[in-house]
Amino acid sequence: MLLEGRRALVTGASSGIGKATALRLGAEGARVAVNYYSDKERPDAEAVAAQIDPGGANAFAIKADVGSEPDVVGMVGECQKRLGGLDILVNNAGIEKEVPTLEMPLDLWEAVLRTNLTGAFLCLREAGRLMAAQKGGVIVNMSSVHEFIPWPGFAHYCASKGGMKLLTQTVAREWAPLGIRVLAIAPGAIATPINDFVLDDAEARHRVEAEIPLGRFGRPEEIAAAVAWAASDQAGYVTGTTLVVDGGMSTYPKFT
Ligand code: NAI
Ligand code: BGC
Repeated sequence: MLLEGRRALVTGASSGIGKATALRLGAEGARVAVNYYSDKERPDAEAVAAQIDPGGANAFAIKADVGSEPDVVGMVGECQKRLGGLDILVNNAGIEKEVPTLEMPLDLWEAVLRTNLTGAFLCLREAGRLMAAQKGGVIVNMSSVHEFIPWPGFAHYCASKGGMKLLTQTVAREWAPLGIRVLAIAPGAIATPINDFVLDDAEARHRVEAEIPLGRFGRPEEIAAAVAWAASDQAGYVTGTTLVVDGGMSTYPKFT
């Protein structure tokens, strides 16, 4: 097992990539705090924790809005209490909603930046304080190919992931002397609830698949595998960079 005894927190872990990641970290021997957003997601998060450890000693669900400073401070404090510290943070929580920029209301712009970027910052800062005291840890930020591929209709989302890229690189430099690695993973199109608006529309799905050399959406487990590796000692020399896991989408297959 890659992560025997490591203590991990995965945000937005009641569904999609976060769920697959929590399960994979658990299967690799980690003890896992399974973050969820609201009471609506609670049963799913509890089911993830129960799947990792039915006894509950090595996995538990924990509610927090990553965009709320008091929530995040409370969540990381709870991890310290229940796990004795944190070795791995996966900043996975994220949202998106298509809106042309000319019509984008400020509150939607702010909501996306708050969850995707400020949320990642708050969790990273709080977990980083524990990791600095412990003299070690790994932070994996769930970015996107849209940290470098522009995406019309998603300016807020692209800005959040572009911001995440330089947050990752900058903090990796600051914290390397503390023994903390900080890196990002950039998935392409993965079959999760965030993509239901495409997956439920055969034509739209086909259009996206045509953008992917491997010809299919990725599976959440394929991203989780990359996270498990990135968080493990096998990736001990990897920091300040983004690992792209996208079926070749970023080779721009439609460019002739
Ligand atoms: P998802 O919608 O299943 O997962 C997002 C999770 O974030 C949900 O569990 C949701 O409850 C949680 N969340 C939302 N707001 C939150 C908040 N304020 N506090 C705590 N949790 C909150 O979708 P998916 O695909 O699993 O997304 C996970 C991450 O992967 C996101 O950051 C997304 O941007 C990123 N990603 C997804 C790709 C895809 O094609 N599915 C591709 C590239 C990146
Ligand atoms: C988005 C998905 C999209 C993928 C590829 C991700 O960041 O969350 O909705 O399918 O990028 O465009």
